[in-house]
Formats: sequence, structure tokens, C-alpha cells
Amino acid sequence: MPVTIGALREGAPQETRVSLTPEVADKLAKEGARVLLQRGAGERASFPDALYKSAAWADSADQVLAEADVLLTVQPLTTAQIHKLKPSAVVIGFMAAHTRLDEVRALKNQGATAFAMELVPRISRAQSMDALSSQAAVAGYKAVLIAASHLQKFFPMLTTAAGTIRPAQVLVIGAGVAGLQAIATAKRLGAQIEAYDVRSATREQVKSLGAKFVDTGVSADGSGGYARELTQEEKASQQEVLDSRIAAADAVVTTASVPGRPAPKIISRAAVERMRAGSVIVDIAAEQGGNCELTRAGEVVEHQGVRIIGAVNLAADLAYNASEMYARNLFNFLKPALNKGELAIDWTDEVFAQSCLVSGGQIRHEPTKKALEA
Ligand code: NAI
Repeated sequence: MPVTIGALREGAPQETRVSLTPEVADKLAKEGARVLLQRGAGERASFPDALYKSAAWADSADQVLAEADVLLTVQPLTTAQIHKLKPSAVVIGFMAAHTRLDEVRALKNQGATAFAMELVPRISRAQSMDALSSQAAVAGYKAVLIAASHLQKFFPMLTTAAGTIRPAQVLVIGAGVAGLQAIATAKRLGAQIEAYDVRSATREQVKSLGAKFVDTGVSADGSGGYARELTQEEKASQQEVLDSRIAAADAVVTTASVPGRPAPKIISRAAVERMRAGSVIVDIAAEQGGNCELTRAGEVVEHQGVRIIGAVNLAADLAYNASEMYARNLFNFLKPALNKGELAIDWTDEVFAQSCLVSGGQIRHEPTKKALEA
């Protein structure tokens, strides 16, 4: 029996992405799988049903949940959906395990296997599966467009008959995948850009994109390429320099995060009050608590003439390309486990082993296991 690979019309209110695009549905069919989609699954990402040439259709989410051997998702399933899965089902998608413990428990009790895309190790071989990166790139791009549309200034320098317009000053805080894409996008729009990250390795990357690196004299290189948390003194010294750069900026895009922890607070109320009226902050870290003290996730806050945009799920704003990249990430993850249309997971492969959250009634991810026990 070929494996049935299912995808839903995502249920979360703001979620417009789809986990399976027509391109990837065709590829999975070529691998011998049966592809089962809920009607309208790709509609909000501009993939109408008619584009899926090799899919079977289900009239309801329940039918997909009941029939899928492998379910590809964008957002985590709800507990009610998890209870409808086959006990042997494999779910692959973003799991947000640290905030969705009830759902993890439900997956465990259901006997399902769940792979979390955010846990895929960031090794060279797995770059094509790196959904955190593909979606962060979309968010970084979109954040700059949001900043530009809120700002009452041009981004580029303009020389006109009415005189010369100075280019906008953009500051990008956090130069990971999202931050670097934000810099590249602001550059294409002609702004003058400064950027800052606690990891010293980003200095050269920032410069190579044509931005100036803000030097605070503090480095926070941690293990595995991620940032470590800073000490109080380091934070104070970093802050002094940063606050002056924030005050000079027309638009600030903040992307700083530390895995598994709330987002570091980098822009205080006082720092916002030093900014010029009309300036804009787009906070991509809003969902993790925000990099700015005044950020409210999903809202635009106005404080003394400064607009603070608590951006959430930006990837869904570019649902077409974000879905294309995400679906390819899923395909590249799943392909090694497909053998003539059947599923065969190699548990000695570190990509599967490390990204597995739950299987066989056991929690496989230690931090999640500890959180559940606590
Ligand atoms: P992230 O989303 O976890 O964090 C964003 C950025 O915020 C990071 O660059 C981090 O250093 C920075 N940050 C944290 N605390 C900060 C603070 N207090 N002030 C300023 N900046 C702060 O990071 P992302 O984009 O997911 O990348 C994390 C790491 O993984 C990077 O080293 C990146 O190069 C690496 N990576 C490796 C890949 C691979 O080899 N396959 C693929 C993608 C990323």
C-alpha cells in the first residue's frame, strides 16, 4: 500500500500558507505516494485546487486526519485534531513545543510520531530542509516593506527639482537569517543601514551586504552558532551604544532571539522616547515577547509619535513564496524516508533523530520532556 501523505487547509485564523504546493504534490506522487488534500488547502496562498494535478481530494479536515499516514502541517495541530489521527500517523511541521505542551502530550498519548521542523539540525546537509531559515528570510523582507510603508519618508536619496531628499536611516537589530534579509531589502530600497548582532561572526556578513556594523565591544558567541545570554554588565555597555544608534534611526527592524527563551528586550521605553517623531519600529520578535518594551504582538502601538509594530507570522503575508519554500523544505526532509511509495525512517540519521519530538508514546526531545515533567 502506498503511503498517504495529507495536507490540510490550515485552521489558524491568520495562517494563509499551505504545507503542500502543486510542485511538491507532484514530486511526492512521483515517489509513489498517494497525496490527499483537503479541498481549498492552497487557496489562500494562491494555489487553487485545479493546480494540483496529482492529488486526491477530501471534503473535510477530518477525512485527511483519519486517512493520512504522513500529515504535513504549517501550524501545530490542535488537540482535537490530534485525537482524530491514526495512531501510527507521522506529523511533520512546526510544533512550537515549548508553548504547546498540551498538544505534545496529546501526540504522545495518540501514539503518533511528530517531527518538528524547528528542531532540524542546522548542519550543511540539512540546509535544504531548514524551514526556520526559509520562513525567517520571508519575515525579514516583509518587515522592511512594512517599515517603509509606515514611514513618512523615502528610503532612497532623491535628487529632485524640489531639492535633495536624504536617505532613510535604517537600523537592523539581530543579523541572523531574517536580519540579513532585512538588510538586503533595505539596501535595495536605497536606505542607509546600520546593523547589530551579539554574534561577532555577523560583522563580516553585515558589511558584505553594504551595511555598517554597530560596534558595542561586546560579543555573545554561544554554542552551535547561536547566541548565549549576556551578563548584566555586558548588557549595560551594549545598551549605551545601541540607544544612541536607535535614536538616530528612522526605521528600526528588530529580529533578535535566543532559541527556547523569551526575546531579549533591547529597546526600552526611554530609548523609544529618544527617537524622532514619525520613526518606526518593526519588531519581528513580537511573538516571543518582543525586542522592544512597548511592543504588543499583532498591534501597532504609537508612543510619543513613534510607531511600534508588533509583527506576527510575517511569512503568511507572502503566502505563495513562503509556502513554496516551506513545502520544498518538507519534501527534502521526507524524501530520504520514502522508498517506492512506502515510509521507512532511518532512525540512525541525525536529522530524523534530532527533529523527532514524539514517537511510540515517548517524548524524544529532552527539553520538552523536562517541561512536561515540570
Ligand atoms: P535567531 O532567529 O535564533 O536569532 C536572530 C539573531 O538575533 C541571531 O543572529 C542572534 O545572534 C541575534 N541575537 C540574539 N540576542 C541578541 C541581542 N541581545 N542583541 C542583538 N542580537 C541578538 O537566529 P537564526 O537566524 O535562526 O540563526 C541562528 C544561527 O544559525 C546563526 O548563526 C546562523 O548563521 C546559523 N544558521 C546556520 C545554518 C546552517 O548552517 N545550515 C542555517 C541557518 C542559520
